[in-house]
Amino acid sequence: MTINLKNQIAIVTGAASGIGRAIAFKLMENGTKVYAFDLNGELLHKHFGNNEQFVPVTIDVTNRKRVNDEVFSIISKEKKIDILVNCVGITGITNIKSHEVDVENVKLVFDVNFMSCVYTSQAVIPNMLEHHYGRILHLASIAGKEGNAGMLAYSASKAAVIGMTKVQGSEYAESGITINAMAPAVIRTPLVDNMPDEQVKFMTDKIPMKRCGTLDEAANLALYILSPENSFTTGFTFDLTGGRARY
Ligand SMILES: NC(=O)c1ccc[n+]([C@@H]2O[C@H](COP(=O)([O-])OP(=O)(O)OC[C@H]3O[C@@H](n4cnc5c(N)ncnc54)[C@H](O)[C@@H]3O)[C@@H](O)[C@H]2O)c1
Repeated sequence: MTINLKNQIAIVTGAASGIGRAIAFKLMENGTKVYAFDLNGELLHKHFGNNEQFVPVTIDVTNRKRVNDEVFSIISKEKKIDILVNCVGITGITNIKSHEVDVENVKLVFDVNFMSCVYTSQAVIPNMLEHHYGRILHLASIAGKEGNAGMLAYSASKAAVIGMTKVQGSEYAESGITINAMAPAVIRTPLVDNMPDEQVKFMTDKIPMKRCGTLDEAANLALYILSPENSFTTGFTFDLTGGRARY
């Protein structure tokens, strides 16, 4: 199978770091022009430099108006958006029991992890419907399938992403748009490095392959999900857990 994404236009959120950055590079390697959305404009410029296939957009994706304005301006210029990848994510406070969580932190995590995916998908889907084609990938997590102890806000926000993926997959199944999620276990990125050691050990101990996933493994799976070849799977959460989730 050869994957050709030449002349495709993508938006990747959270593209300055970790999984989003790896997926953005993988898409560019395969011919896609990537609009890279991230809060951290400095990091976007540092990692990608001058590249005509890459457009950095410094943005807070919890700001719905900004998201709508940026997507509108991309569509005005490019006429179409083929691919949306939602990689923005924060864990919020972890290693804490549910009765002790700060509800403001839960709201913040939902805004970043869930509402941002609602905003970006609402902004791109009308254009994809007009073109009868689209590939959307939301980054969920094994935490959303299983509920990691100590991670109420994160786990529940990722469960919401999985639920939204099922809804959107069903709603647009006949439109040429596929909408899927990916649920990694642990991949060493700044998101994981900033968590308490005890919480990271709890998560990695549960992986049957006894190792973390790699950025390349995440990007390769994403490349397939985002390709025209992925034409008969929608509303599905792809596994990336080294054997932890067998369902
Ligand atoms: N790394 C893992 O082990 C793992 C496991 C399961 C799921 N995930 C999910 O994968 C996705 C990517 O995670 P990662 O590990 O690459 O994280 P990361 O911390 O390396 O990257 C996240 C990026 O999102 C950006 N960001 C955060 N809030 C933002 C906002 N409001 N607006 C715009 N940009 C914002 C950050 O600046 C950062 O560049 C997340 O959704 C995460 O929950 C990661």
